[in-house]
Amino acid sequence: MATGMLHSHYLFVVLFTLIYLVKTILLLSDKDELLEKFKKKTKVVEMIVSFGFLATGVFLLTQLPVVTTIMIVKIVLVVLSIPLAVIGYKKKNKVLATLSFFLIVVSFGLAHKAKDAKAGEKTVALSGKEIFEEKCTLCHGGDGKLALSGAKDLSVTQLPHAGIVEIITNGKNTMAAYKEALTAEQIEAVASYIETDLKGK
Ligand code: HEC
Repeated sequence: MATGMLHSHYLFVVLFTLIYLVKTILLLSDKDELLEKFKKKTKVVEMIVSFGFLATGVFLLTQLPVVTTIMIVKIVLVVLSIPLAVIGYKKKNKVLATLSFFLIVVSFGLAHKAKDAKAGEKTVALSGKEIFEEKCTLCHGGDGKLALSGAKDLSVTQLPHAGIVEIITNGKNTMAAYKEALTAEQIEAVASYIETDLKGK
C-alpha cells in the first residue's frame, strides 16, 4: 500500500515538475502567448496533478515512523514554492517563477538523497538507527556513551534484550517512557540497534 502510494507520489511529482519546467521556459523566453495557451490547456491536468501530489505526500507523511530533518526541509521548500509560483506566473515575474521552480527541483533532489541513503540498509536497522538519532542522542549521544543527566553508557550495558526493551517502554528515573511515542516494533528496532551497533563498540 505505502509503496504503491510512493510510486504514485513520484509520478505526480515528475508530472508537476514537467508542467512547471515548460511554464518556466516559456516565461523566460518571453513566449507569453504560448504560455497562456499552455496554461489554459493544462489547467485541469495541473489541478489533478497538484492535488495528487499533495494528497499522496500528506498520506506518506502520516506513514513515516519518524519525521527526519530532511523531510521538514523538503516540506518547507515545497510549501514556500507554491505562493512564489502563483505570484510569479500571475505577475510574469521571471525571478519569482524561476525561484519557485528551483525550490521544487531542490526538494525533489532532497527526496532522492534521503531515498538513496535508505536503499543500502535494512529497513529495521535503519528505522532503529533513525529513531535512536531522533529521540535518544540528547542524553545518550550518537555512540551511546554520552551519559548526560544520569543516563547509562549504552555501549557497556549488561541488560538482556528484554531488559532494554523494558526500559525503553516504561522508562526509568529521568529517562521517559517511550510506550506512547513509539510502537512495539519501533522499540524492538531501537533495542536491536543498541545491541548490534552500540554495544561493545
Ligand atoms: C532525558 C534523557 C534520556 C533520553 C532522551 C533517553 N534516555 Fe535512556 N537513559 C537515561 C537515564 C537517566 C538512564 C539511566 C536510568 C537508571 O538506570 O537510573 C537511561 C538508561 C537507558 C538504558 C538502560 C541502560 C543500562 O544498561 O541500564 C537504555 C537501554 C536506554 N536508556 C535506552 C534509551 C533509548 C533507546 C532512548 C531513546 C528512545 C533513550 N534511552 C532516551 C536518560 C535518557
